[in-house]
Amino acid sequence: MKQSSIIQTALLTCGLVFSTASVAGSGASGAMLGNTCAGCHGTNGVSNGPATPSIAGLDYDYFVEIMNEFKEGNGNSTIMTRIAKGYSEAEIEAMSKFFSDKEYVKANQTVDTAAAKRGEKLHKKYCKNCHGETGISTDKDDDSGMLAGQWKPYMEYTIADYKSGKREYGKKMGKKFKKLQKDEGDKGFADLLEYYASQK
Ligand code: HEC
Ligand code: HEC
Repeated sequence: MKQSSIIQTALLTCGLVFSTASVAGSGASGAMLGNTCAGCHGTNGVSNGPATPSIAGLDYDYFVEIMNEFKEGNGNSTIMTRIAKGYSEAEIEAMSKFFSDKEYVKANQTVDTAAAKRGEKLHKKYCKNCHGETGISTDKDDDSGMLAGQWKPYMEYTIADYKSGKREYGKKMGKKFKKLQKDEGDKGFADLLEYYASQK
């Protein structure tokens, strides 16, 4: 974690930063703030609703970045743009710390194993450079979000949003994404999602 955010988190926990978020009041910790997310993202960020992503164990920098994108109204979103607006930078950092410290839990879902095998090859060829060996993003993987074990329906919506241009590609992702579309078509993406879902 960056030094500045450690300090901000500390200040926040001590209640020295006056908070404007309605749910928070001053002095709310990441855990207290994070509780308000449980209705959708599950207890401690482990989602059991397939349209909502798990947020436990996401990379800290990715978390901060995506919350700020939501807050600024970028990043395509059905609901998070409204939610993120209610939080200050320090509160976002406190929540990011809280959730990124939690263990990532992969969703338990049914999988087409033959498709997953094909998907594994496609992942290695098109996506692994930024999303890690198996779709689990670590620090060195470009703050790119979790793909392995994430809910399939959520992933389907997300892929559809990238394809339609509703969500912008991070950095150089668009190139590989379009190459996969051209080489393998929609089936390629379907196989990939089976692969990600297969990791339990
Ligand atoms: C009403 C339901 C709801 C609530 C409450 C909610 N979220 Fe979300 N969240 C979603 C949905 C749905 C998405 C998928 C993006 C979208 O459509 O907005 C999402 C996406 C996210 C993501 C992006 C995950 C990824 O892998 O890219 C993060 C981070 C996140 N939420 C954090 C939070 C935090 C922190 C809170 C509490 C302050 C919160 N959410 C409260 C529904 C919710
Ligand atoms: C050059 C690096 C790069 C490559 C290659 C890449 N990605 Fe990404 N990807 C990212 C980054 C960075 C993000 C997060 C930031 C964003 O969307 O703004 C991301 C986000 C995503 C997300 C959203 C995760 C979430 O929870 O919201 C999905 C889905 C995704 N990538 C799928 C793929 C697939 C499938 C491939 C291979 C065809 C791929 N990516 C190749 C860098 C990359």
